[in-house]
Amino acid sequence: TVFKNPKEASINVAHRIANIIKDKQKNNLNAVLGLATGATPIAVYAELVRLHKEEGLSFKNVITFNLDEYYPMQPTAAQSYVSFMNEHLFDHIDIDKNNIHIPDGTLKLEEIPAFCLAYERKIGDVGGLDMQILGIGRTGHIGFNEPGSAPNSGTRLVTLDDLTRRDAARDFGGKSFVPTKAITMGIGTIFKAREIVLMAWNRKKSPIIKKAVEGEMSSEVPATYLQLSDNVEFVLDEDAASML
Ligand code: GLP
Repeated sequence: TVFKNPKEASINVAHRIANIIKDKQKNNLNAVLGLATGATPIAVYAELVRLHKEEGLSFKNVITFNLDEYYPMQPTAAQSYVSFMNEHLFDHIDIDKNNIHIPDGTLKLEEIPAFCLAYERKIGDVGGLDMQILGIGRTGHIGFNEPGSAPNSGTRLVTLDDLTRRDAARDFGGKSFVPTKAITMGIGTIFKAREIVLMAWNRKKSPIIKKAVEGEMSSEVPATYLQLSDNVEFVLDEDAASML
């Protein structure tokens, strides 16, 4: 779906999320959301905060799982995805803090495999993701599933691509300060969501969007695996869609 601009697209996605939350509330069920970081979803979160403050949308029945976190990373660091989510969403809504899940960047290396298995299990225990929202990195990564990721991969520790670290350099005050690793949900984890919405704005995303949507499926561009699923929608602005 192509929208005129990122704002209209973001409002549309936010309203779809709000509808899931409200439908579940009517039936006394939890809404389970897979959330993403990066510049792309910021306006979606802003609209959800507005719906909470101005229209009384409650997040009391919402359980969230974030896609990824840098490793190592202290949650209190300005660059952590914990800080990002607090700043853009969680600090402004009535979500129960116990319902928020973000991969833990403070684990010891040997603790990571058990943590990742438990993360997958928790998603399953609450009924699976109703909707997963995604951005896309210029390497074609979703979450932090970099080139080489398998389509059935699970939550795990990964090594970040050089281009991803260059793109993150500004947030960290230089590429050398960007962690070399991250913990990410796998492509297989993402695929289990009942709906997947990948968002991309701006002309700089148009080459990777063209590859993801029209390119040959390959682990070299992990987002091409989304071609395998019927539950995926690309939500784009005209600039990101300009090469399609
Ligand atoms: C990071 C995140 C991804 C995100 C990507 C794109 O690498 N781990 O989940 O999709 O950045 O970021 P942006 O939305 O800022 O372009």
